[in-house]
Amino acid sequence: MHLELNFLIWKVVCVMSNKKEFLNLGKQPIANKFLRKNEFEDEFFYNLKVVFDDDTKLVSLKDFVKPELMFNEDYVYHTSLSVPMVEHFKNTAEMLMKEFNPLTVMEIGSNDGAFLKNWPNDYTIGVEPCGNFAKVTEDMGYQTYSEFWTTELSEKIKNDGHVDFDLIYAANCICHIQNLDECFAAVKNILSKNGVFVFEDPSLLRMLERGSYDQIYDEHAHIFSVTALDNILMNNGLKIFRVDNLSVHGGSNRVYVSHLPVHTFLRFRPVEISVRENLQREYDFGINNFQTYEMFSERVNKSKNDLVELLRELRFIRDKRIICIGATSKSTTVFNYCDIDESLIECITDTTPDKQGLLAPGSHIPVVDRESVNLNDYDYAFLGAWNFKDVIANKEREFVENGGKFITHVPEVMVFS
Ligand code: TMP
Repeated sequence: MHLELNFLIWKVVCVMSNKKEFLNLGKQPIANKFLRKNEFEDEFFYNLKVVFDDDTKLVSLKDFVKPELMFNEDYVYHTSLSVPMVEHFKNTAEMLMKEFNPLTVMEIGSNDGAFLKNWPNDYTIGVEPCGNFAKVTEDMGYQTYSEFWTTELSEKIKNDGHVDFDLIYAANCICHIQNLDECFAAVKNILSKNGVFVFEDPSLLRMLERGSYDQIYDEHAHIFSVTALDNILMNNGLKIFRVDNLSVHGGSNRVYVSHLPVHTFLRFRPVEISVRENLQREYDFGINNFQTYEMFSERVNKSKNDLVELLRELRFIRDKRIICIGATSKSTTVFNYCDIDESLIECITDTTPDKQGLLAPGSHIPVVDRESVNLNDYDYAFLGAWNFKDVIANKEREFVENGGKFITHVPEVMVFS
């Protein structure tokens, strides 16, 4: 009854809220649903539009995609296949251990255990709706709830005998959760009195600064500013006390959250200077003004025209061969928004075995193992994983030495070697 009432209130708030559309990225498929030819007919598409909420300052998708269509047994993004991300989570776990010394730890969105494996499994649990990954972490000895994060699940975890958690961590997961009030209420329900909730997601400010509109896809129900998070967390009895700016995933923010100190028995965590600095930087950039988003939309439109013009000239006029490196969710947005298919980009290399041999969502460009192609047969390589630009440029030095050039659209469409 309580949950039904929460849901009803959320619905009413959604209808009443002041959301304005500023970007239309057209018809898009499920960003991580790589497929076979015989699946084309049933491929799911939706309209990817983006809105700004004048009340909370939150940027979100206008229409959410059903979570079960994105996060299921077939989910292909393996964190542990990315060496830089494995290193990132190891360092993050060490830092959190040193600073907060938690006795109980839970990760929401534990994927294949890249963060969990840094913690003893007798006091650490995972929550992961994708069954294939939940099984991986269960096999590693971590109790894993293969469910979506809700208040109901937080109650179930308590009923299973778990005490409240000293550290709740989530990476690239909270921005996937459509109903944030429900999400934060569930966290508050199971966060110990002096516990910390730490989560990191792509930064709206970095996206706006860099023109990296490809951060927007079905899974990213929201692109967070510290400003919007501060408003929404506060409404849910939580407060941000620290923000770290990170370079991962093209620019992310890690926010540290505690209970609002409404009870005198709670230890007070002072709000650190990094919170004010981030809020100020966002304010100065115009994150609260709708005009900022209208300008961003114009920039995105120009980026599309520039990229299509460049690829067409290279391929159709100068007869150059173009490959893509990294079959990312981000590249799904770019290829579908810009109508790029195999006639422009012949294939995509990706290190993830689950993607290889399949066709990219919507564009149907073949995805191949990097080892199966000779990059020197190509003149240009589009960076689908532009966030790993330095790693890739370093790995592919031979391609550059042989005259190969890279193409990126971030921060603007350009060719470089
Ligand atoms: P991400 O940008 O969402 O982290 O995804 C990166 C994708 O790019 C992932 O599928 C692995 C792939 N990749 C490569 O194919 N080659 C590389 O050198 C790197 C760093 C990533």
